[in-house]
Amino acid sequence: SLVPVKDLLEKAEREGYAVGAFNCNNMEIIQAIVDAAEAEKSPVIIQASQGAIKYAGLAYIVALAKIAADQATVPIALHLDHGTSFAQVMQCIRYGFSSVMMDGSKLPLDQNIEITKRVLEVARAVGVSVEAELGKIGGTEDDITVHEREALFTDPEEARIFAEATGVDALAIAIGTAHGQYKGEPKLDFPRLEKIKSLVKIPIVLHGSSGVPDEAIREAIRLGVRKVNIDTNIREAFVKGVREVIAQDPGEIDPRKVLGPAKKAMTAVIREKIRLFGSAGKG
Ligand code: G3H
Ligand code: 13P
Ligand code: ZN
Ligand code: NA
Repeated sequence: SLVPVKDLLEKAEREGYAVGAFNCNNMEIIQAIVDAAEAEKSPVIIQASQGAIKYAGLAYIVALAKIAADQATVPIALHLDHGTSFAQVMQCIRYGFSSVMMDGSKLPLDQNIEITKRVLEVARAVGVSVEAELGKIGGTEDDITVHEREALFTDPEEARIFAEATGVDALAIAIGTAHGQYKGEPKLDFPRLEKIKSLVKIPIVLHGSSGVPDEAIREAIRLGVRKVNIDTNIREAFVKGVREVIAQDPGEIDPRKVLGPAKKAMTAVIREKIRLFGSAGKG
């Protein structure tokens, strides 16, 4: 059955690695994630974004993830990525998610604390773990300067206050990553991460990790990141795989022959990430 993210991150914290959290939108992506985790004997987090829920529907996502977890030999969690409201988080818990993110990062600090605490009160009672966000991660398409982005980075002192006030299980921080494909190379604020980690004794989550150089990911994990979110790199592998089949044989009409190679390409990318994160063999 699906395990809480908290359990996976506690072991990662003790042993100094990170668990990959991979975004899913359909069966092929879920199978690619689980195939990769099995091949690497690694714990893994399947996560669903707002877009995924809109596209596939909660019931399908939960059903697919549950079957995956029941068949797997490695621990698998199902996590809500960037939950937007108390109501949505409750709905996901009811459907069977083992972990949720309550993204209150757009709210003032006191309101972010308040909504995170409300979610925690319910989640604790039913054994579901909770991730919160402090600072604004944003997207590569946001039309802002480097200087403006830095102004949105997580404040270490606020992180300490937030973690102590809420007791949340994991904290997503803004230190220079962004969702989507980067135009240049992202520059991560490692001193800020180090400061946050010295003040906050809970697992740190890195969003927007597709496109971040391997060296920077390794350093972030060394400094305390325990959950690494990857979506864009999976999308790229999927669509590249589809394009290749169609380019080779424009007459192909069997969806399985179009999607099969794409699934394998996603598995390969996810396996590389799992090894980079150090979670191979930890399942
Ligand atoms: O957190 C954002 C995900 O990477 C993508 O979100 O599926 O809603 O486009 P989406
Ligand atoms: P990327 O799409 O940049 O990998 O970000 C994924 C993410 O942070 C999901 O929450
Ligand atoms: Zn994210
Ligand atoms: Na990214």
